[in-house]
Amino acid sequence: MIRVAVLGSTGSIGRSTLAVLGRHPDRFEVVGLAANRSVADLAAQVETVRPATAVVADEAALASNSPPGGRTKWRSGWDQVVALAGSDDVDVVVNALVGAAGLEPTLVALGAGKRLALANKESLVAGGPLVLEAAEDGGGELVPVDSEHSAILQCIEGARGGCVARLVLTASGGPFRGWNPKRLRDVGPVDALRHPTWDMGAKITVDSATLANKALEVIEAHYLYGMAYDSIDVVVHPQSIVHSFVEFVDGSVLAQVGEPTMELPILYALSYPERLEDPTLRTFDPVSASPLTFEAVDHACFPLFGLGVAAGRRGGSAPAAFNAANEVAVEAFLEERIRFDEMADVVAESIDRTCTGNVTDLGDVLEADREARATTREAVERRARR
Ligand SMILES: NC(=O)c1ccc[n+]([C@@H]2O[C@H](COP(=O)([O-])OP(=O)(O)OC[C@H]3O[C@@H](n4cnc5c(N)ncnc54)[C@H](OP(=O)(O)O)[C@@H]3O)[C@@H](O)[C@H]2O)c1
Repeated sequence: MIRVAVLGSTGSIGRSTLAVLGRHPDRFEVVGLAANRSVADLAAQVETVRPATAVVADEAALASNSPPGGRTKWRSGWDQVVALAGSDDVDVVVNALVGAAGLEPTLVALGAGKRLALANKESLVAGGPLVLEAAEDGGGELVPVDSEHSAILQCIEGARGGCVARLVLTASGGPFRGWNPKRLRDVGPVDALRHPTWDMGAKITVDSATLANKALEVIEAHYLYGMAYDSIDVVVHPQSIVHSFVEFVDGSVLAQVGEPTMELPILYALSYPERLEDPTLRTFDPVSASPLTFEAVDHACFPLFGLGVAAGRRGGSAPAAFNAANEVAVEAFLEERIRFDEMADVVAESIDRTCTGNVTDLGDVLEADREARATTREAVERRARR
């Protein structure tokens, strides 16, 4: 039995992960769940899954709710989330937390030699060099959950080193594909949260609408597959059927295709390199999926994409600063304190004002993250007061 802990079990990826695990009870046992403050949702999951441990990061949230009794030990506090990631009683950690907060459990899980099924791309963006080092030193195994990166992993399986020439990540284009910058001034959170092909948490849905998500994924691909930024391209593919292309040195191109569901990449991250039978997921029909179309990224409409990739290219703590600034900008947009197009403005301003340098330890990442959040908040305040 493979013992699994799901961090962020009450979120979109967390719920999909539990659905997948529930279909393979002979293979996986859920031993730990963690959420931030959704105690009632977590309690309902505990009733069904009966894990050994359930953690609520927000201590006040657990204190003001009474979780069910039974065999599950309830714990609270961020330290307990991190402890679950490194627990001796866990073989696989699914990191489905949102934001750079996910970095610490990522480092701890890899440092403790576990398989890390990583949905929390922000941890790799913010602390890429540290994440790779933790895996190397601790013997942990990093397997992506993001559908594009899972697609790449599936395409390069069995390929010899050095034969990959280029990665092409696909992007749905989000709800505002084909719009112009003027029209984008007036969109609000409700419009941005209406994603055409994927049903996801709020933060990644806004990131998909601005294409900041695709910049995060380019950086993620750079670290996961050791590819130079010049060899990672992005193409808009509104149907979200092709999840990525891999071009090899001889010109051959492989793609992984399938209906847009996160359950498949989650299952693959859990079973890799094996494949488990799952009739629920076998629904692909090429005729109903056609036609498949591809177009270039519109940089004028979606400047956060270019800003993010530029931060990735700068390296060091610049991606951590970009990620932190973007998190603050998304929050301010969702609170209707800044407009959709101002997210890129405040992130650009923050990047200009944040000192970034090499990343030698977690302190360097946290410092860039802290400074970028502070400068972005100032930029938001100035706009919100107008
Ligand atoms: N959703 C997708 O389809 C998708 C696809 C690819 C990649 N991803 C990535 O997967 C990650 C999760 O995305 P999501 O859409 O599932 O997000 P989500 O729906 O917002 O869920 C986030 C989860 O993390 C928990 N959480 C947040 N902060 C926490 C903290 N400090 N301590 C403990 N738990 C915390 C939340 O708990 P509460 O419920 O208590 O707030 C919730 O369970 C993101 O990095 C995203 O980019 C998502």
